[in-house]
Amino acid sequence: MSLTNLPQWHALQKHYQWMRHQNLNGLFKTNPNRFQNFSLNHADIFVDFSKNLIIQETIDLLIALATAAKLPEAMDALFKGESVNTTENLPALHPKLRDKTNQPLAFKTMYGLIEQIKQRPDIKHIIHLGIGGSYLGPKMAVYALAQAQTLQCHFISHIGDPILKELLETEPNHCLLIAASKSFNTIETIMNLKLVLAWFNKNKVSLADHCFAITQFPDKAKNLGIPERNILTLDAGIGGRYSLCSVMGLTLALMIGIEPFNQFLAGAYAMDQHFINAPLSKNIPVLLGLINLWYRNFYGSHATAILPYHSGLKYFPAYLQQLIMESQGKSIRIDRTPVDYATGPIVFGEFGLNAQHSFYQLLHQGTELIPIDFIMALHNPQLSEEQQQFMIANVLSQSRAFMTGKTTTCAHETLPGNRPSTILALTQLSPFTLGALVALYEHKVFVESVIWQINPFDQWSVNYGKQLCRDLLHHMKHKTIDPNMDDSTQGWLTLFQNINRFQR
Ligand code: F6P
Repeated sequence: MSLTNLPQWHALQKHYQWMRHQNLNGLFKTNPNRFQNFSLNHADIFVDFSKNLIIQETIDLLIALATAAKLPEAMDALFKGESVNTTENLPALHPKLRDKTNQPLAFKTMYGLIEQIKQRPDIKHIIHLGIGGSYLGPKMAVYALAQAQTLQCHFISHIGDPILKELLETEPNHCLLIAASKSFNTIETIMNLKLVLAWFNKNKVSLADHCFAITQFPDKAKNLGIPERNILTLDAGIGGRYSLCSVMGLTLALMIGIEPFNQFLAGAYAMDQHFINAPLSKNIPVLLGLINLWYRNFYGSHATAILPYHSGLKYFPAYLQQLIMESQGKSIRIDRTPVDYATGPIVFGEFGLNAQHSFYQLLHQGTELIPIDFIMALHNPQLSEEQQQFMIANVLSQSRAFMTGKTTTCAHETLPGNRPSTILALTQLSPFTLGALVALYEHKVFVESVIWQINPFDQWSVNYGKQLCRDLLHHMKHKTIDPNMDDSTQGWLTLFQNINRFQR
């Protein structure tokens, strides 16, 4: 039965007709224990969801919808390794990665490689080539967790990156290349890889000592000259945006050490166990997913903002953009029929203090309802006590300002308020808490996707753009035009072929 025909959906529609007239100030007055009632703590993450437009009845009705949508059965299937990725007939194995009882053999290979590399005083630069899930997760985590050290790590994702150009001017024997690509046919990554390999070969640098790869297709890496023993194989059931806990974490484990990497896995495992064992009413990823769905499908919100107030989480919003939007940017259900309701939101974000001087105006006084996830750490040894108090005070004051608003006699100075937010507070940003945070969002995405009856683990749209790019590159190289193409594309191909006439 379609989601919108379920009686549980209709009950929520009816509830919304009452809730839409409520405001957060009033809800706190009616229930002075909201903070206690609507906060949970697990894996060193304290989650305050009391400043959301919910009451206990909302939660109960959302859980009834989740149960009707067979969320518990879907969670079970995910953790049992069933083919939850229905269009590719694959399991989604990211939870299994952090279960120590049956870690993939490739981890043993990875740890061996790391031990060897750590013995190499000649290595000064790690060049990590990758894009999407082969870049965003590793970069986010290395930036968050790797303390300053002699080994410098450079993440290169696109073509013509000036950082890569600079690196190709350095001493090649001081560089170690990690080519990260699940498919090993992503043009951007392979173009950069061939650049670096040519540089190594020109300088007679041994690929056996300086070149490693992470991919599902080791033969493709071997065909480019990367020695087999330097290739870590990624299982087909590990989605790119879900791969940070896999051997895609090589660069992370290299930069923070094997034990801290295992702490990262332990944090994700702790959140996994919470997700699979906690009752839905006390389940952090379930409740945060349901609350998001409540805004998306009943309040009609279109976007969600991720605002970390810890400089170590600078790249966390960009990482979540792919995790959420590439997973939930779907409009066809698992049964191949089109949805008749909204699915994935637009996700954006920025380090909170910067965002306060950038887009907070729209969040406070714009016409959009944009739910916010504030993320902070209760302890941050990188900051003085004064700086840390300032950071936390900003989170609490902004969260409060969004809720209460400000009434003045001048309309343009009035803040409407009643804008919801959730505060996720890590005890401290550590491998353990970052692993738990990553797993929290992975499972939150899954919860919403199950109810929306969409597949969060495929990404069929992205190959089309790549194919069109290959076609156009062919025409640009051979100075040909395809008359079947649209007039704009033909116009650009013509212009490009006569570009010399436009050069100054
Ligand atoms: O964006 C499409 C995509 O396939 C992502 O899902 C993936 O993380 C990224 O491109 C990189 O793919 P690969 O790891 O195969 O180079």
